[in-house]
Amino acid sequence: MEKVTVTSVQRMKAEGRKITMLTSYDYPFTQIMDAAGVDILLVGDSAGNVVSGYENTLPVTMEEMLLHTRAVTRGAKRALVVGDMPFMSYQVSIEEARRNAGRFVKEGRAEAVKLEGGLTMEKVIRSIVDIDIPVMGHIGLTPQSVHRMGGYKVQGREEKQRRQLLADAKAVENAGAFAVVMESIPSDLGKEITASLSIPTIGIGAGVDCDGQVLVVHDLLGLLGKFRPKFVKQYVDLKEVIDRAVKSYIEEVRTGQFPGKEHTYQ
Ligand code: KIV
Repeated sequence: MEKVTVTSVQRMKAEGRKITMLTSYDYPFTQIMDAAGVDILLVGDSAGNVVSGYENTLPVTMEEMLLHTRAVTRGAKRALVVGDMPFMSYQVSIEEARRNAGRFVKEGRAEAVKLEGGLTMEKVIRSIVDIDIPVMGHIGLTPQSVHRMGGYKVQGREEKQRRQLLADAKAVENAGAFAVVMESIPSDLGKEITASLSIPTIGIGAGVDCDGQVLVVHDLLGLLGKFRPKFVKQYVDLKEVIDRAVKSYIEEVRTGQFPGKEHTYQ
């Protein structure tokens, strides 16, 4: 079992091997995904939506993210663990950005951090990279900018936005990021950016030509409700599986079938 590192992820792009990334927020899911062989586990601030039930990612705090990150790093043996910097943990000053990135590594045991933004975050990314903390960028649909974007919309359809996204991608690379997530952009733009960068691109709704793909694990497992963005592929309906198991338990307790002899101390 070879440990995945930021350098091995970069080698994968050079060798044309696709990079797999999923979100994780806790110990048991991490153990399963790590053993299954996923390359990168992102402790996403999507925890706010899928674990804590917030309407968006904006309320998520550093303390919440560190709790999730510690659980994930305890469970991951092979995968690279990336901690997602929550809203307002890196936007106020370089000093705060560095301190909070450092907390992910020191207290959360993460091996890298991710933050949202392109050109406007170039200095912040560089300042964190300069203290030897690897940074993953995130451009396109950036959920922490939901109010500016007026909702969760595909980005880069118009020529001006397209040029902006190309510039964002270059800025993230120039700042020293080791990889960049591209969310909800047209597939031809995903392809163009991927070809123009030497660092790996990880797509979520950015087409098949990205160097890797990421999904929110709750979407892939069918743990949430009916709404699913176009880019999500649901591989199993765990919600239904859990529903069936819980209903069987309720029925068996009510009818006295559980606990049986085999679950009882004599
Ligand atoms: O927070 C998250 O889960 C993310 C992924 C969607 C890339 O940022």
